[in-house]
Amino acid sequence: MKIGILDSGVGGLSVLREIRKLLPNIPIHYVGDSSWCPYGNKSAEVINRRVFQITDHLIECGATLIVIACNSATIHSVGPLRDAYLLPIVGMEPGIKPAAQKTESGVVGVLATEASILGEKFHQLVNDHAKDVKVITRPCPYFVELVEAGTLNGAEAESAVKEAIDPLLDSGADVLVLGCTHYPFLGEAIQSRLPSGVSIIDTGIAVAKRVQSLVPRNSNSDVEATIDIETTGSLDQLNRILPSLLPDLAVNTASCSL
Ligand code: DGL
Repeated sequence: MKIGILDSGVGGLSVLREIRKLLPNIPIHYVGDSSWCPYGNKSAEVINRRVFQITDHLIECGATLIVIACNSATIHSVGPLRDAYLLPIVGMEPGIKPAAQKTESGVVGVLATEASILGEKFHQLVNDHAKDVKVITRPCPYFVELVEAGTLNGAEAESAVKEAIDPLLDSGADVLVLGCTHYPFLGEAIQSRLPSGVSIIDTGIAVAKRVQSLVPRNSNSDVEATIDIETTGSLDQLNRILPSLLPDLAVNTASCSL
C-alpha cells in the first residue's frame, strides 16, 4: 500500500499532513507540480494533461491509491481519471455543502481558484447543495504565490488576506470555504482577520478520513513510513520552505523531471 498525492505545487501538503496524522504507517509519495503552478489560470485541457502525466508517474513509483489534493484538478480531472484507472482515486471539492448547512446569515464566501469557479462541477455543487444560500466566490491567485514562496504570515500575507476576505465579510458571509489546498497554509493570517461568529470550512480532514476508509486494516504496520516529496519546480526552493509548511515531519525530497 502506498498513497500517491498530487497538487499544482505545495498546497496539497496541507492535505498530506492530515492524511499522515491518521495513517502514520502508510508510505506517501507526493508530487507538487510547481513548474506548472498555478493551475488556477490554466485550461481544463492543460490541467488534465498534467494530472494524467503525474498520476502515471505515481503509479510507476508504486502508488496504489491516488489523492488529487487540488480542488482545481479534481473539478476538471477526477471524472476522466476514474474512467481511465482502476485504482481508487480520491478527489476534493470546495466544501459548499457543509458551508450551506452551517451558515446562519444565508451568505457563504468561497475562496477558490478561477479554474475551480469556472468548472461545470463547481456550478453543480452550488446547484445541488446551496440553492437557498447566497454564494459569493473570490479567486485568490496571490495566496498561491505567497504559499509557493513560503510567505505564510507577516505584513504581506495579512494585507493579501484583508483584501480577499473583507469584501466577503462586508457582504454578510458568516462561513468562508477554503476551496484551494494552498489556502490553509495562510490559516493563521485568515483566522486573525475573522470576527467572532465567522467560521472556516476546509475539507482536508474529510479527505484524510476518506483515504483512511479505503486503506485495508492489515496494511498498517508499527513502522513509521517514509514520505517522499518530489517537485517539478526548484528543489532548493522546496527544501527552503518545507520546514515552515511541515514543521514536524521528516521527509525525503527530490526533483521530478516531468
Ligand atoms: N492547490 C490548488 C487547488 O486546490 C490550486 C492552486 C493553483 O495552482 O492555482 O485548487
